[in-house]
Amino acid sequence: MKRWNVAITGFGGVGRAVADLMLARRARYAERYGADIRLTGVRRSRTASVDPNGLAPGDWDAGVPAGDDFLDTAQAHVLIEAGPSDFRTGGPGYGYMKAALSAGLHVVAISKGALVHDGPGLRALAARHGARLKISGAAGAALPTIDLIQHNLAGCHILSIEGVLNATSNHLLTEMMDRDVNLADALTRAQDAGFAEFDPRLDVEGWDAASKLLILLNFGLGASLTMADLSVGGIQHVTPADIHGWRAAGLSPRLVAHVAWTDGTLRAGVELRTYPATDPFALVRGTTKAIRIVTDAMGEIVATSHAAEPGATAAAALKDLEHILAAG
Ligand code: HSE
Repeated sequence: MKRWNVAITGFGGVGRAVADLMLARRARYAERYGADIRLTGVRRSRTASVDPNGLAPGDWDAGVPAGDDFLDTAQAHVLIEAGPSDFRTGGPGYGYMKAALSAGLHVVAISKGALVHDGPGLRALAARHGARLKISGAAGAALPTIDLIQHNLAGCHILSIEGVLNATSNHLLTEMMDRDVNLADALTRAQDAGFAEFDPRLDVEGWDAASKLLILLNFGLGASLTMADLSVGGIQHVTPADIHGWRAAGLSPRLVAHVAWTDGTLRAGVELRTYPATDPFALVRGTTKAIRIVTDAMGEIVATSHAAEPGATAAAALKDLEHILAAG
């Protein structure tokens, strides 16, 4: 049995869901991968709970002031980074990920900030130190995106991608189309339900969807792009007249992250698109997410996902952990 110590940075709802599910699956990891998984540390912004022999559920309720040596004291082999996303600086997650990768630890990223801030740099750091950097949790989570590209479509040439990657904006558009509510009221309900970002402009103005697309391009397609390469729009200017017009025309509006290559030139961004009832994206309602990838040899693939959070994001991160365990 090989020992694997896992540390979690960022211990809000998603981090806790990861801890609970990972410990509940310990027998599976042992049976399938010969892996003795221990949760040896969790770190919040100011406090940490560490036990190199493994924390049990509840052991993390009381923490001690956290030091800079968290990953060392946790004797971690894998870092799961689940802190809040800071798109401007990468936030503390950027520091944790750099420290982990530099020490050869594998990293499972859930938060998007560091990946948006310096995805190509982190990718290079991982390669330099022989560490794996997995990003499913930051690129649609339960919706298969990065794995679809890297595994299922391996060898294919990708011609275009469209994705409904932001649950909040899709929920808002669905509410406005179904119930004639205005954007502000629909947004209040989304915040109450807990899936909107702390700053809901990130959802409404397209930045969250753009972040996921950027991560997908940089990690799934080997690009080295920044946010400045994307043209980003949102749903903040949708009017009741737009809603009535789309309804009358039988069209469904979706905030779509898109990329296509025309004559070798990449065009990527986030914009509002409308779809007729015959299009699979017309069925992507509420907090459902979707991706459509058009390839040369495998044609068009559409995947959708509707799952309860934070459990689904935790499960996506633990899928990444299993891929690390499978690779040994
Ligand atoms: N606010 C995001 C969404 C959830 O609505 O999809 C985290 O990515």
